[in-house]
Amino acid sequence: IGLSGPTMATARLCVLFFLLSATFGQDFKLKYRSSTKPVRLFTEEELQRYDGSEEGQPIYMAVKGVVFDVTKGKEFYGKDAPYNALVGKDSTRAVAKMSLDPSDLTSEVTGLTDEQLESLNSVFEGTYKAKYPIVGYTASRILNEDGSPNKDFKPEDQPHFQIKDEF
Ligand code: HEM
Repeated sequence: IGLSGPTMATARLCVLFFLLSATFGQDFKLKYRSSTKPVRLFTEEELQRYDGSEEGQPIYMAVKGVVFDVTKGKEFYGKDAPYNALVGKDSTRAVAKMSLDPSDLTSEVTGLTDEQLESLNSVFEGTYKAKYPIVGYTASRILNEDGSPNKDFKPEDQPHFQIKDEF
């Protein structure tokens, strides 16, 4: 004897509910897990090791305190490549001004024009964030000047991150 109409409908609903909660439950767990990924902090000295001078080593550069792995752009950033001066450091100012002048190879943004700041943001979003994996953040983005944790720090790639998880 098969199940009658209303019982069958209830059974189907139960199955549907089970499947949905399993799906969303998992989704939630995945999101939660990714939100608590530890964040790697780079000091200036550490970042400098990834300046492309050693063949086969990863190449890192920071823009706005975000450290990107630009190894796949070796033709731009590798040893003897045109933009090699930008790597192994935070080159925010150089990117904003499209300049390779040694005095612009810094994270310093004071005195930049609105146009340069706009250009910086568009290259940051459209080139770096779109093209290269984030591997960490510079100390000056994560910490205050006195070395205490910067409460406002939010990793670009982890919207649910809480700095208290790190310290
Ligand atoms: C005569 C001057 C320049 C020319 C003709 C030039 C040309 C180019 C071209 C054609 C690309 C795109 C390459 C591609 O996506 O395949 C590029 C990318 C780029 N250029 Fe220049 N460039 C010049 C000067 C500069 C200067 C002074 C800077 C200083 C910061 C700069 C920084 C960059 C950066 C950061 C990229 C993105 C590289 C990437 O995708 O990772 N460029 N340039």
